[in-house]
Amino acid sequence: MELRIRRLLTMFVMLALFFVALGCEKMDRSLGPEGKPVQNTSFLQDEEATSKEEKIKIGFSMDTLEEERWLRDRALFKAAVESLGAEVEILAANGDDALQVLQAETLISQGVDLLVVVPHNAEAAATIVKKAHLAGIKVLSYDRLIKNAEIDLYVSFDNERVGELQAEAITKIVPKGKYVYIGGADTDNNAHLFKKGVFHVLQPLIDKGDITVVYDQWTKNWLPSNAYANMQEALIANEGKIDAVIAANDATAGMAIEALMETGLAGKIPVAGQDAELAAAQRIVEGTQTMTVYKPIPTLAEEAARLAVAMARGEFIDTDRKVNNGKVEVPSVLLPPIAVNRSNMDETVIADGFHSKVDVYKGETR
Ligand code: BGC
Repeated sequence: MELRIRRLLTMFVMLALFFVALGCEKMDRSLGPEGKPVQNTSFLQDEEATSKEEKIKIGFSMDTLEEERWLRDRALFKAAVESLGAEVEILAANGDDALQVLQAETLISQGVDLLVVVPHNAEAAATIVKKAHLAGIKVLSYDRLIKNAEIDLYVSFDNERVGELQAEAITKIVPKGKYVYIGGADTDNNAHLFKKGVFHVLQPLIDKGDITVVYDQWTKNWLPSNAYANMQEALIANEGKIDAVIAANDATAGMAIEALMETGLAGKIPVAGQDAELAAAQRIVEGTQTMTVYKPIPTLAEEAARLAVAMARGEFIDTDRKVNNGKVEVPSVLLPPIAVNRSNMDETVIADGFHSKVDVYKGETR
């Protein structure tokens, strides 16, 4: 008896389920405005809403938007993250350490899935890493290395190579003589790597007595005005007797050239920079700057975005390089920089569409 009741109940439930399924099917095939059957897509909208809710969110904490390149980094990184179906929140700290920590805290509290940081200060930014990790958020160091912190990934260029390329280019033109080195910001690990690369090439020539470095100073906060003051100081201290200048980036090179102009030396002695900024490319074709180092920012931004989103999704990132940051061996991706002078401007920076030919040659295309 009991069994019969159970069977009857089962049959009843199955019949009920059958009619519910039939109803759903009917609803999905309802008629559209033109009398044609339309697919019910409400479930797709629901799915979309859920995937929107679950969209990976990347936080991008930037030091500055001062140099031309950082605006490019910002736009390209945003576009790359979005093209991967994720979203990004970007904040820039105007070179202020405390503000950068505060902004990173804001991003963490907004619930980002991963934090990408361009540190203003390599050491101070370790606080950001600690705070992110406490919240279970991984950190990718972008372009500049965060020191003494357990960062999860570092994506940059081979920055030591940047310095080597500068010194290789200048020593070819001036194998003997008095050199001025205008460094970057002491607080930026990259500035140390650029300098290491430069001196890697200069040292054997210094040891031989062919080259003397008559001036060597950092440029506080990478400020071009400080680079100008440095160059003036170098000129005064050496009574204008200088044979070559290596500046850590194009913004500092630009102001060093301003100072050289005032003493009639611009265009007479070689100057190296870095970043392939438009103004630098123009100075190169005009002849006041000798070379720059071109770092294809689109590649950096796209690579960093791809890795950031993958890491946020919990994927394992395999890199073939490791960089020691004083605390850990950081898995790293280091992209190759390219030396650019007047003779390869067209086939590098211009061919890549980094700058247009019209802009570089100021309309005088040949
Ligand atoms: C970057 C350079 C930049 C400089 C100043 C460095 O860390 O690698 O490309 O010119 O910072 O912002």
